[in-house]
Amino acid sequence: MKLVVPAELYENESRVSITPDIIPSLTKMGFKVFVQSNAGLGSSYTDDDYKKSGATISSKLTDLYSKADLVIKVQRPSKQKKTDEFKLLNNCTLITLLYEQKFKNEFSSLKKLNINVFALEKMPRISRAQSMDVLSSQSNLSGYKAVIDAASLFNKAFPLMMTSAGTVAPAKVLVIGAGVAGLQAIATAKRLGAVVSSFDVRASTKEQVESLGAKFIQVEEKPDSGETAAGYAKEMSASYKKKQAKLLEDSIAKTDIVITTALIPGKPAPKLITKKMVELMKVGSVIIDLASEFGGNCELTKHGEIVNHKSKRIVGPKNLPSTVSQDSSRLFAKNVINFLMNSCESGKFADFNWDDEVVKETCVIHNLKKRK
Ligand code: NAI
Repeated sequence: MKLVVPAELYENESRVSITPDIIPSLTKMGFKVFVQSNAGLGSSYTDDDYKKSGATISSKLTDLYSKADLVIKVQRPSKQKKTDEFKLLNNCTLITLLYEQKFKNEFSSLKKLNINVFALEKMPRISRAQSMDVLSSQSNLSGYKAVIDAASLFNKAFPLMMTSAGTVAPAKVLVIGAGVAGLQAIATAKRLGAVVSSFDVRASTKEQVESLGAKFIQVEEKPDSGETAAGYAKEMSASYKKKQAKLLEDSIAKTDIVITTALIPGKPAPKLITKKMVELMKVGSVIIDLASEFGGNCELTKHGEIVNHKSKRIVGPKNLPSTVSQDSSRLFAKNVINFLMNSCESGKFADFNWDDEVVKETCVIHNLKKRK
């Protein structure tokens, strides 16, 4: 079976879907791996690294796609840089991050093709699927990078320092949303020596926040656990939101750096930081809004930009995992191979196990009647 790894086409995308370290395992599963020339360079993996691991390099994209049984990509297919992937995809299975609700045009173009598509963001949040969860592996790195970016924009040091010339006070960091990215942001900020507090609507996060040595800020209203059966946050009541806003206003005024990560699946990101709250912050403060792709948690966020509002900077980062692409690609590739292994009963990959929950939930287009 032929597995194809094309170079990513979108601007600011440095990741690659398969890294050289996992090619021997793919070969063992029965795949012959073809990689587009220089596909891994943005993540520091050279064609030579791929060749040494047993892959074949090809510079001809049409050749690559015409061979493919399985195409693995990080980002959804596109028409750009003189390449129209929609014309190249035929009679094969595509595994990628798709976000069909956000990219409706791409999704409807794909639905017309003779292909199967697995959307990795649809991975169910069950224990068995943790090792296949691309959103988790990438969010983890985003949480880390958000703090590093904040530290480099901030004009003060993070840790408490006692020097002969005087004491440097530690930075105060507030992390809103203590999911995968938020918990990693808390851990990173703590490692850098900041005083960290955090807030989340899901009551179950209190213990996780505190176990990392951060203070949990709690709204004194207990409607329920704040989460759905799938473990995601619910939209909260109007009275809860009012109390939350008051609490955030008080905390934010004392904070140097805010990292926001709050998301509600299928909905725009909740607006938690108002313009008034930004104005209450100290001059020089920094907000890194990780929810910016989904509308942002701060009223002033602009996706892909740094907004300077009265000497407070609000960053709407674009694709943070891509800025640590060597690691994010490796974790992405590991998630993909774990997903394929899930259907590999005899050690060799023959077809997806269509009765499996993970396969059923992630398969969003099933047009391919028979494998080649
Ligand atoms: P997410 O990216 O959807 O949301 C980020 C965080 O924002 C969540 O913690 C959410 O509760 C919080 N949030 C939403 N609205 C908020 C508001 N108004 N104010 C403050 N915070 C708000 O969630 P993520 O990080 O992807 O994971 C959510 C949960 O799923 C976590 O408990 C995680 O451990 C679990 N999980 C389970 C997996 C599995 O079992 N396979 C894999 C990945 C995550």
